[in-house]
Amino acid sequence: MSYIDLLPATARHDELARVRAEKKRWVEQRKNGFLRYREPSESVSHLRASRCDFSGDTVRIGGAEEIDPAERQQVLRVMRSFMPWRKGPFNVFGIDIDAEWRSERKWNRLRPELPDLADKVVADIGCNNGYYMFRMVPCRPRLVLGFEPYVQHYYTFRTLNGFAGRDNLHIDLLGVEHLNLFPECFDVIFLLGIIYHRPSPIEALRDIYAALKPGGTLILESQAIPGEDPVALFPGQTYAKVRGTWFVPTGACLRNWLKRTGFRDINLFCSHPMSSAEQRRTDWMSYESYEDFIDKERPALTIEGYPAPRRVFLKAKK
Ligand SMILES: C[S@@+](CC[C@H](N)C(=O)[O-])C[C@H]1O[C@@H](n2cnc3c(N)ncnc32)[C@H](O)[C@@H]1O
Repeated sequence: MSYIDLLPATARHDELARVRAEKKRWVEQRKNGFLRYREPSESVSHLRASRCDFSGDTVRIGGAEEIDPAERQQVLRVMRSFMPWRKGPFNVFGIDIDAEWRSERKWNRLRPELPDLADKVVADIGCNNGYYMFRMVPCRPRLVLGFEPYVQHYYTFRTLNGFAGRDNLHIDLLGVEHLNLFPECFDVIFLLGIIYHRPSPIEALRDIYAALKPGGTLILESQAIPGEDPVALFPGQTYAKVRGTWFVPTGACLRNWLKRTGFRDINLFCSHPMSSAEQRRTDWMSYESYEDFIDKERPALTIEGYPAPRRVFLKAKK
């Protein structure tokens, strides 16, 4: 089933249909090289999990006993083809996938602050492989739509949810820049780990504001620099070795961004330093990770000499 029928009438249905058709053509073009994700995904599309558990730190999809040894090898191959795994942990038909990020820590920090998601229309912007979308399932949302422009993550989620069969979870190859297709559509929007990747963070927050229903809630999580002043760092080229990092604000700066884009009831409910216990190299993500991004002699600084990142969590209402 498509998610379109679950959206409010305010959605720009015709334009959305056009964008989706264009994305479909693009992702299915053989010359784009996406077969490396699509073929593995399709090769296991016949498998369904009868047992899932989204209530614990590890997202569990299927039990080990549900598939035979040959199928297990196939699922393992397919899961490895989606490496590097950034978000997790997952257990898929008994196969443990230890991702770079201990995403359950972020979820556990924001879970007590969540509004009631029951029967709500929710967006997760930059949803990656959908770890948080699966964690929302026990809250019984009507629809969670994951926006994710990266094809690797798109097929990873589709494969996982192909097994899990949750028909209120959907993903599309969309980005922040497509929020204008969804005026006043969402009760809750999650914007986790995205805002510092936006060259125009205020524009992104305005688009989010417009996509929320009146009274809707934004859950925002961001990398931040320490400090009480409402300022943002604008790195020269990279921040903690990551290109595409534009503004790294303090918590106070984020609060002001929200205030000036019209949000009310702004609550900064959590702030903590980043650590290599939370983001690290694993068997499922073999590239550099947090410890390589930080100055080993001076751990309060990134490798570029900027203040080392904290993470901040804010909640705000339209
Ligand atoms: C730092 S990760 C954060 C993932 C997840 N939300 C979390 O907090 O763990 C950024 C995610 O945003 C996705 N992304 C990249 N460009 C985007 C865009 N224009 N709009 C929305 N998401 C985007 C990336 O593919 C990636 O999955």
